[in-house]
Amino acid sequence: MSPASILGALDVGNRRVLALIAEVDERGELVIRGVGVAASAGMRHGQVVQLKPVVTAIRAAVEEAELMARVPLSRVLASVAGTFIIGKFTRAAVMLGSREREVNLRDLEELVEAARRQPSPPGHSVLNVLSHAYTLDDQEGIVDPQEMVGRQLSMDAYVLICQDGPLRTLEKAINAAGLEVDEFLFSPVPAALATLSDDERRLGGVVIDVGHGNTTFAAVVGDRVLAAGSFPFGSAKINDDLIQLFQTTFDGAEKAKCEAATCLHTEVDPDETLSLPSMHGRGAQVVSRRELCKVVRARVQETLELVANEILRQVPESTALRNVVLCGGGAHLDGLVALTEEVFSSRARLADLERVADATHLLASSELPPASPAVAVGLLAHARRAALPDSPPLVRPRPARVGWLQRLAAKFSFS
Ligand SMILES: Nc1ncnc2c1ncn2[C@@H]1O[C@H](COP(=O)(O)OP(=O)(O)OP(=O)(O)O)[C@@H](O)[C@H]1O
Ligand SMILES: [Mg+2]
Repeated sequence: MSPASILGALDVGNRRVLALIAEVDERGELVIRGVGVAASAGMRHGQVVQLKPVVTAIRAAVEEAELMARVPLSRVLASVAGTFIIGKFTRAAVMLGSREREVNLRDLEELVEAARRQPSPPGHSVLNVLSHAYTLDDQEGIVDPQEMVGRQLSMDAYVLICQDGPLRTLEKAINAAGLEVDEFLFSPVPAALATLSDDERRLGGVVIDVGHGNTTFAAVVGDRVLAAGSFPFGSAKINDDLIQLFQTTFDGAEKAKCEAATCLHTEVDPDETLSLPSMHGRGAQVVSRRELCKVVRARVQETLELVANEILRQVPESTALRNVVLCGGGAHLDGLVALTEEVFSSRARLADLERVADATHLLASSELPPASPAVAVGLLAHARRAALPDSPPLVRPRPARVGWLQRLAAKFSFS
């Protein structure tokens, strides 16, 4: 592998850290060469709450991936998720001059920079600028204005604004593990890149990443992200419910969730029982499987309804979103696809990642549930796209401390 063709992705999750190393082959296809997984520790709802164990887990995952790929990794694209990131629409504009002229790449970069400089709450910065749609003079809906002629160019964009503290701490952990971060992406954005097919995008699609400590989502139409966000509970919340209700252990709850639970509780025989270990080491207890499934369903339904309501709040009513794709480890819960179809009144399916990268045998070799690596695979897909000759270069988030010059620029850069 030549160093230039190596791409690295790092997804520091609440349950596990996943590192991927990929190569872009001569046909431009992504081929995953290295996979490293380590149990996560020191993370809560997407935030680092204890630095050292996070650094150790990142190091372990990266070393495993390096060993498999037989290349060292020094730079990565990394994901970040949590309620400390929020999205909103914005508009930026640049004057091309007093006379008409051709739009060039520099103008597009200036627009992105202008969008990044927009006023954010104290201690926040723009993380990602997405969904560019351009207007050149009076002509709206332009996808790529380069080489077109006009006087004023503006861009509507969906920007993700992130609290600086949690992001800086995560970057510090990654740096301490020996890696530089080229760019951070809000997790559901790469998840959408990895999972939604072209047809699903065209018709409007939602990706929901049901992780361990977070549930994140993005609504996408065509190339545009129209809504994104996260809730600070994921599949681990089901474990909490089962532990509290049945006084069982974490492992007992995990086993019951993965092997016995279903969201379709009415299909479970009311007389069926299962054995759960007792929390206080007092042997096992027998519980109704149907009752357990009812508890699981209630929690998951509540989460899905929160996601659906948040999307309704952010996306204009007229926008159709006809498909939902579920990813993340928690998406493997039995009956979740059917329940999602009910809540969203849309088609739903479990993510499959084979469309995006040749990852089958490597992902099969890791112990992860198959839809868990969606975010990391999406990061690679983004890196591959960014490496194409005509795409604009990756732009790092601006420094966290906002100087007077930036504040002044922010005042005047928006229409
Ligand atoms: N078959 C299954 N049924 C139900 N839940 C499952 C199944 N397999 C895995 N999970 C759950 O998936 C969760 C882990 O998901 P994932 O690997 O996406 O975690 P993560 O990315 O580290 O978490 P987060 O995205 O919140 O940071 C765990 O809570 C696990 O119990
Ligand atoms: Mg995750």
